[in-house]
Amino acid sequence: MAGRIRDADIQLVRERVDIAEVIGERVTLRNAGGGNLKGLCPFHDERSPSFNVTPARGVYHCFGCGVGGDAITFLTEIDGLTFVEAVERMAARAGLKLTYEDIDGRVQRSPSSQPGLKQRLLEAHTAAAAFYTERLIDPEAETARRFLTERGFDRDAAATFGCGYAPDAWDALTKHLRAKGFTAEELTGAGLAKPSRTGNLIDRFRRRLVWPIRDSSASTIGFGARKLFEDDQGPKYLNTPETPLYKKSQVLYGIDLARREIAKTGRVVIVEGYTDVMACHLAGVPVAVATCGTAFGAEHIRILRRFLFDSESANGRIVFTFDGDEAGQRAALKAFDEEQRFVSQTYIAVTPDGQDPCELRQHKGDEAVRELIERHTPLVQFALDREIAKHDLDTAEGRLHATRAIAPLLARVKDRGLVDEYIGDYAGRLGKEKAELRRAVAGVASGQSAEEVPAPRRSPDADSTQLRAQREILKLALQHPQVAGPYFDAVDATPFTDPNYRAVREAVEAAGGAGKATAGANWIAGVSASCAEIAAQALVNELAVEELRIDREPDAVYVRTLLARIQRPVVEAEVADLKRRLQRVNPSTDKDEYMSLFGKLMGLEQHVRSLRDQAANAVE
Ligand code: CTP
Ligand code: MN
Repeated sequence: MAGRIRDADIQLVRERVDIAEVIGERVTLRNAGGGNLKGLCPFHDERSPSFNVTPARGVYHCFGCGVGGDAITFLTEIDGLTFVEAVERMAARAGLKLTYEDIDGRVQRSPSSQPGLKQRLLEAHTAAAAFYTERLIDPEAETARRFLTERGFDRDAAATFGCGYAPDAWDALTKHLRAKGFTAEELTGAGLAKPSRTGNLIDRFRRRLVWPIRDSSASTIGFGARKLFEDDQGPKYLNTPETPLYKKSQVLYGIDLARREIAKTGRVVIVEGYTDVMACHLAGVPVAVATCGTAFGAEHIRILRRFLFDSESANGRIVFTFDGDEAGQRAALKAFDEEQRFVSQTYIAVTPDGQDPCELRQHKGDEAVRELIERHTPLVQFALDREIAKHDLDTAEGRLHATRAIAPLLARVKDRGLVDEYIGDYAGRLGKEKAELRRAVAGVASGQSAEEVPAPRRSPDADSTQLRAQREILKLALQHPQVAGPYFDAVDATPFTDPNYRAVREAVEAAGGAGKATAGANWIAGVSASCAEIAAQALVNELAVEELRIDREPDAVYVRTLLARIQRPVVEAEVADLKRRLQRVNPSTDKDEYMSLFGKLMGLEQHVRSLRDQAANAVE
């Protein structure tokens, strides 16, 4: 029987862990007022932020795609962890020790449940990174150290980036990790070892300088390894293969060090290699990242956009650096193909004499690297110039073809203010009238289909006053149980005419009622867990995050007004019903019944009057 984590511990984890910090490692969050934070949803593509986090209540919710939950849910969804793994990871970061108990509540010494595969692979990587860095001081690692020094990386730089050395042995790392208890499957699964031709397990990286590749939360998920010796038959760089942790289409080297600066400045610099990332960071360009052994593609963009807070209002800048050589130019054009996925402006910084940022820093120093990045030009301009250069502008035919070729590029310019400037500029160079080029551009633009934006998922119709009040009072019970509690619990589920709202009302009761609750992540998690259906669970999150309709702290008057508003139609219906029944009773023959119903009616009408008065409070 697998040990389970004690409920009290799970609650403690929820209380201690800052959801904004957990999510902030994957998504840049900005203040959205009312104690809410906003970012670009990591679960769907969007151009303006509809992903909300409410730290005070420990929940997130996306108004665009409907996902939501607490910090534990977030980790299970974003990293594919199990519930237990997510709790364990959060406990580790909060420095909490978890207690596991068996089914009868008896405390167990240690978890009898195995940590999940991903957790093990992460642990193996942490141990491997430590092993490699220790080997870097071995006499054998002389060449590796010299390589770093020659490239202008001192001991501190090597330590910051965790550089290490994979020794000249078949299975030095494999033996080391096996002795630490990692299984052969875990080592091959992590991509750290592989079976040799004879079937023995051997190290993947040998006699190489290695860089740990870390994810945005600074966990090592793979390695890049550079060849050091002429007689090494392998390629110049070897990377971790695809594993459950390492997906090269999503890996951005340097993101752990760059993400905060990217968020702060709205800038990102994309370079080609490990050494370039190091050089940029050391030279004072701390927003540099690189892909690892693959082209910069759509998935990388998707991830970077979240860190950039890449939206209309953000005014971000993405700078690609490329060599001026033919390969570099091709790579730049490939980047331009994808750049439409960014909302922000994209730029290119072309390095002089085919030097990459690392070489530039070596030869000309830090200042030269900073200048290179500052001297960026719009990527579209680079693409336009490349296109123009293909045509012979001395002939009318060449000018016509060039016009046709650049119109689609101009139609893609995001900053509408700039388009006109470019049109003027390029019309001049092509010897065309501005109007003619503008028409060509407009022709392309009108043929473009509008981008598909996912329709926001509609929760129960919040248009009618009635439903609006039902929604608001549920928000109060979830967000401010201390204020709403006693009044809220006194009204049963009847006034909640929308089935989803009623389900939430019932879940509040099943979770013990709002009167006994304390605002926070555990209260929301409790209500969510008490929901009979997934749809209601999603709604709980949504309501926990949605802003109240008032701009001040809610008070008892507000609560009672809302409750009066939702109850009024119920009591009015009862009054109408009683009146109908009274009409059918004969006061002279059934005097007792008549009097009893009449008394009830008086009471109800009194109730309706007081509800009307209360409901009429101007509270919003
Ligand atoms: N790369 C790769 N496989 C190769 C060559 C290159 O994955 N066979 C990737 C690496 O991520 C490398 C980047 O492309 O960091 C840039 O390659 P290159 O310009 O050849 O290397 P530099 O970064 O200039 O490396 P060095 O300074 O080591 O010569
Ligand atoms: Mn290079």
